[in-house]
Amino acid sequence: MSSEQMEYYKAKYQALEDLPGVGPATASKLREIGFRTVETIATATVHELVSAGIGEATADKVISSARKSMAITFVRGDELVKLRSNIGQLTTGCSSLDNLLGGGIESQSITEFYGEFGTGKSQICQQLCVTVQLPPERGGFGCGALYIDTENTFRPERIQQMAPRFGLDPEETLKNIIFAEAYTSNHQTVLLENADEVIKENNIRLIVVDSVTSHFRSEYLGREMLAPRQQELNKHLHKLIRLSRSFNTAVVVTNQVMAQPDAFFAKVVKPVGGHIMGHTSHTRVFLRKGRNNLRIAKLVVSPFLPEGEAPLRITERGVEGDEDI
Ligand code: GTP
Ligand code: MG
Repeated sequence: MSSEQMEYYKAKYQALEDLPGVGPATASKLREIGFRTVETIATATVHELVSAGIGEATADKVISSARKSMAITFVRGDELVKLRSNIGQLTTGCSSLDNLLGGGIESQSITEFYGEFGTGKSQICQQLCVTVQLPPERGGFGCGALYIDTENTFRPERIQQMAPRFGLDPEETLKNIIFAEAYTSNHQTVLLENADEVIKENNIRLIVVDSVTSHFRSEYLGREMLAPRQQELNKHLHKLIRLSRSFNTAVVVTNQVMAQPDAFFAKVVKPVGGHIMGHTSHTRVFLRKGRNNLRIAKLVVSPFLPEGEAPLRITERGVEGDEDI
């Protein structure tokens, strides 16, 4: 490890009390409101801390010392290349999908899978919880996963079924997945706000939210609720982005589609969540059904890859490309 990296990790694992200007009382208050690590404080806003009951001057001081300790400041282009080199690529375990994604799912950003029911969104998410545990030389991060389930579709038995294909022990694989069911959109938000310690303690490098929009969609009904819904969804997605940057995790979310009311002739669907979803998902993949167990993944948005399509199959063994079978 280089001395630069040592400094980085020292800052990363620093206790809140070690931050200049943070006394034990402030530290315990911060922990109480869900800010337990230097990373989450460094990426918090003064407003967030103030609305949780911290005085404005203290909030300001705490955030700036957290930022200083993590050296969040202007960087030169060449340093940015170095910082970006921390971004990892996680294999999906499905070769055609990996190729479409230019190697796999990236850490430090949000990847969204959207499509109609039964198109394989939850299957892909569950498989990623397995592949994230593979060692880096096999395309994984050698780390655990955090799964936030809003639709009660996570199946531990399915994980046990998928693990052997990757040479992993089914029981051990399950132990490295931290699961939480979110009952409402507010619960979903609160779960993530309190996730930093869980992420750190369990060495988590993949966060799944399946589905990210369903509660928001069913709770905020009617036109007049659209603005507050989008505001809450926006906050939630930004929290995800900040967690992904702070802990270098991959974030994968799923999303439903709705029929486009202005399409008369063809069946056109678009993802839920409007511009907010569109602007915060860095990579978007649309899934549709083919014959039998065939699914087609289409890369719709990517910061650096061309649009394209890939076939995949949902089998007993998991989600596979034809090359894997
Ligand atoms: P919604 O959450 O309802 O929007 O759908 P989704 O896109 O999450 O679909 P999901 O990932 O749950 O995919 C469901 C499909 O996977 C089903 O149509 C099944 O064909 C297939 N599937 C799920 N479990 C198994 C399994 O254990 N074995 C096999 N062979 N296929 C499975
Ligand atoms: Mg699902």
